[in-house]
Amino acid sequence: MRTQVGIVGAGPAGLLLAHLLYQQGIESVVIETQSRKHVEERVRAGVLEQGTVDLLNATGVGERMRREGLVHHGIELRFDRRGHRMDLHDLTGGRAITVYAQHEVVKDLIQARLTYRGPLVFEVEAVRIEGFDGDTPGIHYRSGGEECEIACDYIAGCDGFHGICRPSVPAGILRVYEKIYPFGWLGILAEAKPASDELIYANHERGFALLSMRTPQVSRLYLQCRPDENVAEWPDERIWEELQKRLETQDGFRLNEGPIFQKGVTAMRSFVTEPMQYGRLFLAGDAAHIVPPTGAKGLNLAVADVRILAHALARRYRDGAAEPLERYSAICLRRVWRAQHISWWMTSLLHRFEGGDGFEYRRQLAELDQVTTSRAAATVLAENYTGIPFELPGEKL
Ligand code: FAD
Ligand code: DHB
Repeated sequence: MRTQVGIVGAGPAGLLLAHLLYQQGIESVVIETQSRKHVEERVRAGVLEQGTVDLLNATGVGERMRREGLVHHGIELRFDRRGHRMDLHDLTGGRAITVYAQHEVVKDLIQARLTYRGPLVFEVEAVRIEGFDGDTPGIHYRSGGEECEIACDYIAGCDGFHGICRPSVPAGILRVYEKIYPFGWLGILAEAKPASDELIYANHERGFALLSMRTPQVSRLYLQCRPDENVAEWPDERIWEELQKRLETQDGFRLNEGPIFQKGVTAMRSFVTEPMQYGRLFLAGDAAHIVPPTGAKGLNLAVADVRILAHALARRYRDGAAEPLERYSAICLRRVWRAQHISWWMTSLLHRFEGGDGFEYRRQLAELDQVTTSRAAATVLAENYTGIPFELPGEKL
């Protein structure tokens, strides 16, 4: 098989890249190790930045998101048993976030791909990439028992943190920056009406908690836990009891409880690969970087990467320009480090760190006090949380 761009991975990065390339008249083939059902049901992120929403709408895959997504103009920061609303809309001159599950975005992108009959192969095995340090990149894999090969001009490594593309780059080329946090998140989905219309990020002596949602009937909740926490030790009653404690307020706030139908633990890390390119291999999304989930940035960063990559590839094919592809990594990394910073900052502002004499907690309360009383400090949070613009100052794509 021959194509222009071979895409490894059908997560949000790979599927959106294929979609953006299709719109520019560029051919691609997407291969994915998991089944369609698996990627369409994988529970992950839920918060889309304004720029992500605008891009999905502008490229014709936002119809269901517009109908079913929940647009939020603010979030709450809760500490010392009091809630403080951050008016994102007002602080950013009209920006908002949309709560719409990542797997719904994935479903919409797969639907679009199938509608225009773009090649998308699920359940492939033994994926290998080669030739990307020269002019003949190739992707090898097994599908339905047959050995297959895609010859292409470029390879997009969109295969997530545990994929094979990043480790295929010869040793000594990529530099890795990493920070591992001493905690994780236990996340649940519950058939319970969300007790708040907006997200609540809570700093509590017992640890961080987050109230989010998926629909007006389904709550999405997270609890700070050990990175290796065993979900089996968390029966539903224990989860609700802990969430109620961490989200309590002076005026008697109570979560609505209901049957929990999904539980999972996520470890937390910050990770950046530099550069995000080697020869004709371009890494995008979680294959190149990971952020702790506190700032809700991972999916949005993946979207920003592939937007830049699609644009650079379009310039290459349309007018032969090599420069945008050469600048891909540098342009992405500037935004990636901004997102790393905000994700690390929100993580350190809101989580309980073990040990010490309580200094960290008092410091957090002082910082939260500032963020909720100074418009300048609040604006920094709001601008970063709703998403920095795709084109940063001084950068024309
Ligand atoms: P992935 O979604 O990981 O997709 C990679 C794909 O490649 C997968 O389908 C995988 O099966 C496939 N693959 C792997 N290896 C191979 C191979 N060898 N060959 C072919 N295919 C392969 N982000 C936000 O922006 N907002 C949030 O609110 C948020 N909350 C989160 C909550 C949780 C609990 C978690 C776990 C993550 C959250 N994130 C959030 C992060 C977000 O989910 C990820 O950043 C996002 O999935 C990245 O997309 P991706 O396409 O780069 O990678
Ligand atoms: C959700 C996930 C996040 O990481 C976050 O910061 C906010 C909300 C969610 O899954 O709804």
